[in-house]
Parts: sequence; structure tokens; C-alpha cells
Amino acid sequence: MKFWGNRIFIAACVLILPAAAMLAVSPNLREEVRSLRACRQLATEGLRPIADDRRHRFLGKVKLETALCRGGDHALVGANTPWVDWENYWGAGDSSSQSRSLLFGHLARDQRGLDGALLDLEYQRIEMIKFNLFDNYTFQGYVSGRDNIPGRSIKVWPEMRLPSNDPHYKDVGGDGTQLCKGELIRYRTLNGICNDIKNPAMGSANMEFARNVQFEETFPQLGATQLIKNRHGDRISLLQPDPEVISRELFTREQSDPARCQDGTASGADAHCDYVKAPFFNVMAAFWIQFMTHDWFSHLDEGHNGKTLEATGCQTKLENGKPRALTQAEIAALGCRPGDRIDVALMKDTTPPPTFTQQGKTYLARAQKTTANTNTAWWDASQIYGYSDRSGQRVKRDPKDPAKLLMVQIPGRTAEGDQQGYLPSFAANDPIEPQWAGQEAVAFPDNWSIGLSFLHNVFSREHNQFVEEFRRRAAAHPDDDSGLRDPANPDRVIKMKDVTPEELYQAARLTVAAEIAKIHTTEWTTQLLYDEVLYTGMNANWHGLVRADNLVSKALEKVAVDDKGHSVREPDQTTWYSVFASGAGIFGLGSHRYADKDLFLGLDPNAKDIWDIRNPDHVNGGVNHFGSPFNFPEEFITVYRLHPLVPDLLDFRDYKNPNQIQREYPVVQSFRGAATAAEHDGGLSNWAVTMGRQRLGALTLGNSPQFLQNLPMGRIASTTQKLDVPALDILRDRERGVPRFNEFRRQYGLKSLTSFDDFINHRLDPNSADSVELNREKKYIVKMREIYGTHVCDDSKVITEAQDLEDKPITDCLGHPNGSTVDNVEDVDVVVGWLAEFTRPHGYAISETQFTVFIINASRRLFSDRFFTSSFRPEFYTNLGVEWVTNNGPDGIVMEKGKPNGHEEVVSPMKRVLLRTMPELKGELDGVVNAFDPWARDRGNYYSLQWSPRAGAETDPAFKKP
Ligand code: HEM
Repeated sequence: MKFWGNRIFIAACVLILPAAAMLAVSPNLREEVRSLRACRQLATEGLRPIADDRRHRFLGKVKLETALCRGGDHALVGANTPWVDWENYWGAGDSSSQSRSLLFGHLARDQRGLDGALLDLEYQRIEMIKFNLFDNYTFQGYVSGRDNIPGRSIKVWPEMRLPSNDPHYKDVGGDGTQLCKGELIRYRTLNGICNDIKNPAMGSANMEFARNVQFEETFPQLGATQLIKNRHGDRISLLQPDPEVISRELFTREQSDPARCQDGTASGADAHCDYVKAPFFNVMAAFWIQFMTHDWFSHLDEGHNGKTLEATGCQTKLENGKPRALTQAEIAALGCRPGDRIDVALMKDTTPPPTFTQQGKTYLARAQKTTANTNTAWWDASQIYGYSDRSGQRVKRDPKDPAKLLMVQIPGRTAEGDQQGYLPSFAANDPIEPQWAGQEAVAFPDNWSIGLSFLHNVFSREHNQFVEEFRRRAAAHPDDDSGLRDPANPDRVIKMKDVTPEELYQAARLTVAAEIAKIHTTEWTTQLLYDEVLYTGMNANWHGLVRADNLVSKALEKVAVDDKGHSVREPDQTTWYSVFASGAGIFGLGSHRYADKDLFLGLDPNAKDIWDIRNPDHVNGGVNHFGSPFNFPEEFITVYRLHPLVPDLLDFRDYKNPNQIQREYPVVQSFRGAATAAEHDGGLSNWAVTMGRQRLGALTLGNSPQFLQNLPMGRIASTTQKLDVPALDILRDRERGVPRFNEFRRQYGLKSLTSFDDFINHRLDPNSADSVELNREKKYIVKMREIYGTHVCDDSKVITEAQDLEDKPITDCLGHPNGSTVDNVEDVDVVVGWLAEFTRPHGYAISETQFTVFIINASRRLFSDRFFTSSFRPEFYTNLGVEWVTNNGPDGIVMEKGKPNGHEEVVSPMKRVLLRTMPELKGELDGVVNAFDPWARDRGNYYSLQWSPRAGAETDPAFKKP
């Protein structure tokens, strides 16, 4: 972590302040003097302590002088809002946030802002590691400790053992100490067991989702506690407020000319659907994240939920604070469908949760009900390679070279990359559900469209590219050491020529999975959160703040893994581990070991790396679960319900003439099996340019795809055979017991709102062009008030124990006078809430609430995975695999021209993948720095969000579109 030493800082201030004071003739200089005084006070006070209890968390809000030091007067503007402060610091926005300073280095204004923002984010992460881990299996031990080990320092759990009916029960040690070994630790196993070799079941398919919120706060509609009753009264239930009414009133994309859109099905020359666009993020990024979620989690089992059907709404609306039935006229005006049905959410455990008492306080030992993740929780590319026997059988290997995935030639497809082929389609005897017939063969086939088809084809080609490069090298140097080792016979050097097709296939899987994780962490996320703070933060998660694999980075790694990671003190295992890991980078933590325990031995460039595959503590030693076994929390799924990202129509282009839009293509026309013809007729590289150039939909109210509100659902026996997916987003969260928006924020250590008006972006100037957006936001606030309602508040009712308001408990009145009419802001569904967050940090395609959920879970996804930490080694990946992930491919590091946003940049990993799998895109990709930024956009200066064409793309009609 970068921050200044107090003494140097004070010395600098003492020298500079008098000079500054003399020069204080302009407002800018006067501000600098005030700001530096504030910094001096800060430096004297020292760092803020980590909260001891959840009521006194950081909340992303700093003292006024801290804000002044890091962002000057501008940073004070947001002080009274619920939103985090760092977004207003110097340097955290576009070039208008940059500021010239009297000082330089870490004392310069911009650097004070950026360092301060990173510090704030690290506080949030540390406090979330401390307050937000709730595992349904092991929570009692986490609170009470076990075998004299404090809960947060526990590393092995009996609940993570393989059960006696598991086929590998005996292999891992049966009813003795369980430890994975041999074949089970070589690769990513199909169902995800043995990633952590001491906790074989962790993260494997069908384990329960975890939670990030106190179990007592789950399933608020059950009204199980007095706090919940005080918070929501009798106002909420599964269908209350009505999900389809919410969808139609708050989510529908307004159309200037509905006839030209036809609910997202229009395809003629005149076809057009309006949507709110995010200028700095492309459609490929939208499908990328769906592609990721299909790797990380699924509630559905083979495309199905529970056995019975349920309504999704279109039944009631609120009148005088009470729900009443919708009239036929209202139903017609809304356009919703009372006849829609869906299969109920699958639940895992619905028995009443046990309780336990610790230091006089009684806790639930798990959530009111639990659900299972039918996918592996690991970032293992399981959407491509499989997560169960059945899904594994859907993956087709090339009979001519079983190390490869089967790709077939498509007649008429003649672009250079097309020689690498396309995925074959499912055959009649493949283990699939009827609704997947005709789709391309992949492990996770649900909710398929051209977007997923595109990405699966790209990464299947990439898998084969790896295999081919390996084969080329093996042919040239057959006796070279491949780097691979068999843990059952670790002394045998496996030469290039001796690597079996299965070994190569599995090494390719490891490599592709790590490459995907790298693209997501350093490229997708830095474009999703397009500012300097997150550029630095995300790169720190991967490479470390110290960047390059230099000596300081090695020393930090050693402190984290050897010292903090071995301590039984809770703060070492959690807070300090996180801090030192930020310096060294999480990826590769523990993948090197040095003979001596001496901290600084890692600083010796000649120190011998003694990492040994025979040593379980080397193989597994780089993981840290912070006392709570890894799986995604239910709350994580909620913030990935990103359906507004998808446009209704795609602007189809030909890569040979990319400035022209050939036709409008409805996404729904490629739904499920129809995607195959769309892919083959369109051609992979044409779809690449199509998705690369088009802006995706902004995550905001009034921007959900029309086609998803009317999605054909042939598999459901309802009268409509249609589904309103955005309405289902609301219903599913309620079925799975996600707390409502305000409590959700409090649980994550964010400030709660006191009225719907808090959502409005306070930075908008009503007397400028901003007024259009301001009016849009106000319109939705009125609708929210109609849907969720208001009530007369009772100040005696305390509604939460997660946060205080100015050192007093938060009550039903949310800080307003007793007996006043307050907004039912406590009842707002989480998806509605984060879509309504109109105030966001610069360049954020998502809201701060969503982002906060990512901070902890994106980090844990790396911290917990042995293959991203201590087992990122040639013994598993091969030498080529390690090189491929490190250098973004086989040809060494390649540098971009210039210094985008002030940084020397390597050519991004996704761009390298696209160039390998579709070399014909070279011309189009030449000017692209981040593959998820619209390809023809001029990136301009420092984190510009301007929508204007780069040189050569001036005639692209997309730049004439609003
Ligand atoms: C053509 C595009 C898409 C279609 C047709 C589609 C369809 C669906 C449907 C029908 C469901 C409901 C499943 C159920 O609970 O029964 C669903 C859930 C979901 N969708 Fe989408 N979706 C699309 C795009 C996306 C995108 C771009 C994202 C971005 C991340 C996304 C994220 C999710 C998530 C997180 C869920 C919940 C999954 C679960 O509960 O396990 N979807 N989608």
C-alpha cells in the first residue's frame, strides 16, 4: 500500500506551507493551502483504526479534513450524501479531476487523491473480510473458534471433507485426515473437488452458496426477527410489491417509435430499438460477463428449477398503502401478463436453522434456508470444460488429437481464422435438455445466444492454439523438460515428447482458465470501472501494487505467505495478509519458496526456489480463505443480474468494411439453437467487429431489453409461454432471501439512504444540459414512490443493528421526525436500488453498491484458488502454460504504442486472444487498447468518456446515433 510517511510529509509541509501562504493570491492557491493544512492534521492523527464492531464501520465516508486533503473543496460536496467519498478526490475522474500541485510525487494533489482512494478501498476490503463472511456450513466455528484456534484463523474444516458416498472418498483418506493427492491434485477436477487439497469439497459443484450478510437478515419476508418486523412492517412478500409491475414501470426501455422495435424482434431495414448506452463499454463486454457467470455459479440444475410453477406477478398495485388487484385496463396499459409462470427456485435446506450462543449472544448457525451452487465455484472455465459428469460429456474432443477441442469447418467461411473452425452442434444422443437442441456443444448451454456462441468459439480456438504451439515446440525440442510433473512420481522429468494428450488437454484448460481470469481482472474490470483508481487497484490484485516480479514484490509475498499466512493471530491472517498481498499481487502468491525463513532472502536474486510438489504446504500454501470456506454468497448473484447490458438489436458489421452497419440483428433471433445459424452465416470475425464496436446498455432504470421482458419460454407449461426476465430477477432474489436494498448496503458497510430522493445525482446542474438527465431521474423517483409507497414512521422502532446514524440506532424514521411520512426506502429490492444509483464514481458502468460486493468476492475468488496462487507452477501448467499466462501468449510481452492514460501498456490479453483466433482483425484491432472499449471510440485523454470516433472511423454511423 502506498502512503506517505508522516515525518517526510510534515517536513515537506513545513517547508512548503509558508511559501504557499505567501503565494495565496488565487482561489486555487488558497484551496491548496487549506488542503495542505488538512493533510498536516491527518498526518498528525495517523491512520484510522479498523472498526471493532459492525456499527462503527468505515462506510466509505471520511472526515472533512481528509476529504479536503485528498480532493480539495470539490471533495466536500459529496460529504452529506450516502455515497462513498473517494469518487470526488483529485485524479479519480477524467482530466477535469486532475489538478496541478505545488508538490510532487506522493505529495502532489492527484497522487494524494489516488493514494487516498486506494486506501479507502483497502479499508473497505479489510472490513468486509472481517464482517461479511457467513458460511452456511462452518459459521459456528468461525464465531466461536475450534480446537483453540480463533475462528478467522481456521484453515481446515470437517464440513469440507468428502462424504462417504463420494467416489473419491477413499482416495483422499476416507474417515482419517483427508488430503488430496496424486491424480486428484494435478488438474482442475471436473466437479471442482481438491482445489484446496486439505478441504476437498470446498467450491465443488452442489455445495451451498455462502452469504455476505448476517443470517438473521436473510429472508426478510418471513419477518423472523423484531428488527425485520420494524423495518418492513407487513409490506413485503414474494409478490409484493408486484415484480411484473416493477419491471414494466421501472425497467422498460422507452421507445420513441415502438413499431420500429416490436418488442426487440424487428429486423427490417427500418428496425430500431432505443436504449441508454454506456459510451465506454462494448457489447462484447456484456456477453463476456454472462460467459463468466456461467463459469462461477448457477442455481439451476440442467436448466431447471424446482418442480412446481409459480406466478411472476402482474396482479396488484399499491393504493393508499395497500395492494389491490390490477384492472384489465391497467394490465393492458402496463403490457404485463398475469398468465406468466416459472418453475419455483430450487432450495437445498429448508429446515429451521440451528442456533448457538457465544458470549451471551445467540446466533443462527446458517441462513433461514439455503440454496446450492450447481456449478463449481472456481474460476476454472467450467462453462467450457464441464462441472459434472453429465456436463463433461457435452464437451467434444478432437478424435485426431484428443488434447484439442473438436472444431469443424463451416462451408463458405473463408476468413483466415476460420481455418481454426467452429464448435460442432449437439448430436441427438448428447446429454442435453430438449430446449438446447441445435446449439453448439459446450458444457454450460443455458440461456444461449450469439454472444455466448461467439465467446465459446473464441476460447475453444484459443485452447487449440495453445495445444498447437505446444506441439510445435515439442516437435522442435522433443527432449526438453515440459515443466510438468506427476505428483505420484514427482522425480520423473516429463519431456515435451512424452506429454500425453490428456496431460496437454488439462494443461490447456488450466492456462485458458487463468488467461480468462487475467482478462477479467486486468482488462474487463478496468474498463467496467474506467478510472485511474480502479486501474491501479485491479492491476494490484493481479500483479501487485509494486507491479513487476521484482525483489520488493517477492519480499511482500514472503511476508504475506510465510509470516502472516502462518500466524494464528486473526489480524495477521486477515487484515495484514490482505495488505501485504495488495503489494505483491494475489496471483501467484506462494508459488515460490525459499530455503530460509529470513524475510529478506527473497530479495536475493540468486536465492534458490525450493517449491516442491511433494510438499502439501507448498502446493496449497498460497491460499487464504480468511476463516470461511470459499463459495460465492447469494448476494453476489444479485449484483450480477446485469440484463440491461444487452441491447435488443445488434448493429451487424462486416470486418472488411467495419464503418458500415449492414443490418440490424435482433438478439432474440439468436436465442438458443438459432445461434448456430447466426454464427455460421455471420462469421466469427464479423460478429467480433459487431460486438466490439457497439456500445452496451447502461445499468440504469428504464433500460431492460424489451426481448427479455417477452422471452419465449417453450419449456414452461404456462398459458403465455413467455417470461419477463427482469421481473424474475426481482422474484428470485426474494425467493432466495436477499435483504432489501438499504439493509443490504448497511450489511456491506455502506451508508443507507433516508429517502428515494437520495438516489438523484446531486452533481447534476438543473440549469445546464444536465436537466434532461435530472428530469429522467426525478421521473423514476416518482414511480418508485408510487410502487413502494410511504408510511407514517415510528421513531421507537429500531430497524437494524448493522449501522448507527450519528451514533444513534437507525429507526423506522430514518432520521426524520417521529410521525412524519417517510419513503418505504427500506423495502426497495436490491436490483431496483442499484439500478437507481444515479450517483457513481467516474467511469463506473456499475453502481457503488454492486462494486462493493465485487471488492470482496473478486479478491476471494483469487485468494482461495490454489491454481491462481501457490500452484501457478510449471509442474501443473507446463512451462509454456506459465509463459502464456504471464506474457499473454507465446510470443513474449508485446507493448502498445504510446502511453494510454499515462501508462506504458502491454498489448492486452484479450486483444492477443482475438488476434490469435481471428488474425484477419489485425487492422481493426490496431488502435484498440482495451478490447472492451468500443473499438472505434477515440479514448482521448485521461479516462475520457467522450463518444467520438478515432481516426479512420469518422464515417461510422454509430457516432451519429445518440
Ligand atoms: C441473451 C441474453 C440473456 C438471456 C436470454 C438470459 C436469460 C436468463 C433467464 C431466463 C434467467 C432466469 C433463470 C431462472 O432463475 O430461472 C437468467 C438468469 C440470470 N442471468 Fe441472464 N440472460 C441473458 C443475459 C445475461 C447477461 C448479459 C447477464 C450478465 C451477467 C446475465 C446474468 C444472469 C444472472 C446472474 C442470472 C441468475 C442465474 C442464477 O440464478 O443462477 N444474463 N437469465
